[in-house]
Amino acid sequence: MEEITALAKRRGFIFQSSEIYGGIGGFFDYGPLGAVLKRNVKDAWWREMVERRDDVVAFDSSIIMHPRTWEASGHVAAFHDALIDCRNCKHRFRADHLASLDKCPDCGMSGTLTEPRNFNLMMRTAIGPMEDTSAQAYLRPETAQGIFVNFKNIYQSARKKPPFGIAQIGKSFRNEITPGNFTYRQREFEQAELEFFVPPDGKDLEWFDRWVKARKQWYSDYGVQPDRLRFYELTEKERPFYAKAGIDVEYLFPWGWGELESIAHRGTYDLDRHIEYSGKDLQFFDEASKQKYTPILIESSAGMDRTTLTMLVDAYHREAVTEGEKQTERTVLRFHPKIAPVQVGVFPLARNKPDLVERARSIEAALRPRFRTQYDEGNVGQLYRRQDEIGTPFCVMIDFETLDDAAVTVRDRDSMKQDRVSQDALPAYLAERL
Ligand code: GAP
Repeated sequence: MEEITALAKRRGFIFQSSEIYGGIGGFFDYGPLGAVLKRNVKDAWWREMVERRDDVVAFDSSIIMHPRTWEASGHVAAFHDALIDCRNCKHRFRADHLASLDKCPDCGMSGTLTEPRNFNLMMRTAIGPMEDTSAQAYLRPETAQGIFVNFKNIYQSARKKPPFGIAQIGKSFRNEITPGNFTYRQREFEQAELEFFVPPDGKDLEWFDRWVKARKQWYSDYGVQPDRLRFYELTEKERPFYAKAGIDVEYLFPWGWGELESIAHRGTYDLDRHIEYSGKDLQFFDEASKQKYTPILIESSAGMDRTTLTMLVDAYHREAVTEGEKQTERTVLRFHPKIAPVQVGVFPLARNKPDLVERARSIEAALRPRFRTQYDEGNVGQLYRRQDEIGTPFCVMIDFETLDDAAVTVRDRDSMKQDRVSQDALPAYLAERL
């Protein structure tokens, strides 16, 4: 994990937030490559979950909602972690992370740990100029509630009837007591949530299974190693009382298995609670059967920062390579081509030859509208090394022969094999492989 964190900083994937002031725990910034990587991950989710389906509509709700939302959702009463402080070293722990309540794991003192106290994980803010309680609001801890409270607005305006889904990607905030493991547990993060509403016709568990399958397919399509991914089925005891089924999608990170996504059967709980707290009718009225009902909800909720981190960790490889007679090692990110921040690197063999530079620049400019490209120049070995480290699937080298035969050398990141390809055929060659 240390190597990956160092690479993420060195190559501009992820930086600690406000680093020049010493950083701030649980917040991160995405650099030039990381911002593209995360956008590609979100686009991949959006493409499969919204654009390629005719039964899911898009949505984007505000981060701050009416405070009653969080009473209805149960977050005010129950979104707690039990917290323990050490009176000696002042360090703070989650009670469920402590092996013993007698001794502080950091300073080793006995009898210095406080009783567990409940700590609400919602971030608070104040609306308007008066910071009294009437102005108190929360930054949303999940995007889902924005969907639930708009259920009627959405199905009426989009003219949808269950089974159909509503999807959104957006920021969420949780005042985690122990943020850590790089971007795995943050205080500000992005979620991609699908809320799929089904009629009470006895097919809700079928829909649950269908979504589990669709999500399995998604991870497989984007190249996550199957032996590092598992779909853990929650037992009845682990599920909330209203849920008929639940699955945690987990990835094997360097520190162990960690949750990427939860897929949950949520019954009618969320809509029922908002009906109760708002006094508004959020039931669905089916014109055809003249029946009114509260739809059953199947939810898929994935963390986009955790998924981006997964792509980075999963892609990371160090391997021995033979260059001519020499045995060396290289670091390579084997990103799926659709996720890779740069898809094609283009360089001239020598940066002090204007003819080569000009040709390389014009080839790169011609490819740019179709692919994510990067022009670079310098020592050939270092150029390949850099592109391997940022996970660029193909590199195109313009050499002296190019000026005569209008062909270029294309190097494949994974096999390191090189092909000679005519300049005219290059876009089709790359498109086929990317
Ligand atoms: N609406 C359901 C919901 O929010 P959750 O299991 O609490 O369910 C869903 O969160 C996903 O959001 C998690 O699987 C994880 O990927 C992401 N997530 C939750 N807390 C996070 C945190 N502190 N940092 C980064 N991602 C987080």
